[in-house]
Amino acid sequence: MSKKINIAIDGWSSCGKSTLAKQLAKELGYIYVDSGAMYRAITLYFLRTNIDLTDKKKIEDALKNISLEFIYNPSTGISEIYLNSENVEYLIRDMFIAEKVSDVAAIKEVREFAVAQQQKMGAKKGVVMDGRDIGTVVFPNAELKIFMTADNAIRVQRRFKEMFEKNPNVSVEEVKNNLELRDYIDSNREVSPLKKADDAVIIDNTNITREETLAKVMTLVNEIV
Ligand code: DC
Repeated sequence: MSKKINIAIDGWSSCGKSTLAKQLAKELGYIYVDSGAMYRAITLYFLRTNIDLTDKKKIEDALKNISLEFIYNPSTGISEIYLNSENVEYLIRDMFIAEKVSDVAAIKEVREFAVAQQQKMGAKKGVVMDGRDIGTVVFPNAELKIFMTADNAIRVQRRFKEMFEKNPNVSVEEVKNNLELRDYIDSNREVSPLKKADDAVIIDNTNITREETLAKVMTLVNEIV
């Protein structure tokens, strides 16, 4: 049997990270972890409990009451995220979470809380994790690191399509502004900002299909395993 590795996929919002990560995990029989879902679920908890994001003590106390779990759903083929035993996989994709998640993800205590759990999940290898700091902070020793990018217009189009299916009231402008703002906050925050790890391979999927992207990355995987 070939050796198991960890694969870190980082990059801008909506450039196909999770699509690639899910396909890779399926192909390799690995576990897929959507680290963004963890920040989104924490954001949901903070919004529901009206946490003041400047109050460190309140944040630390709130984190003690948060339990996050991924449970595989065979009918959808994905691991869905549970916040204190409630399935919030679909709720956390809404715009009201997207509007706040980058502010929550910039908080040091929140990152420490999430990163510790992410590192545990990868301890036995065989994990594909996507996010913003996976190759730089969560798995600095990952055997394969990918940094994904795509043209802004394409990313807006993709995210709009996704959001519109759930909420026909959403506008392109709203989606565009949210993506730009999130990318700005995510790459300019003090703690673990989004940046390419020195040893990450850049994949720009503006003009290539999902299948072509997967094939490119599978070639890289096969060189390692
Ligand atoms: O991948 P996503 O859009 O679901 O992520 C939601 C937000 O969470 C994103 O704007 C930045 C943050 N995030 C992060 O800071 N670090 C990660 N590893 C994953 C996501």
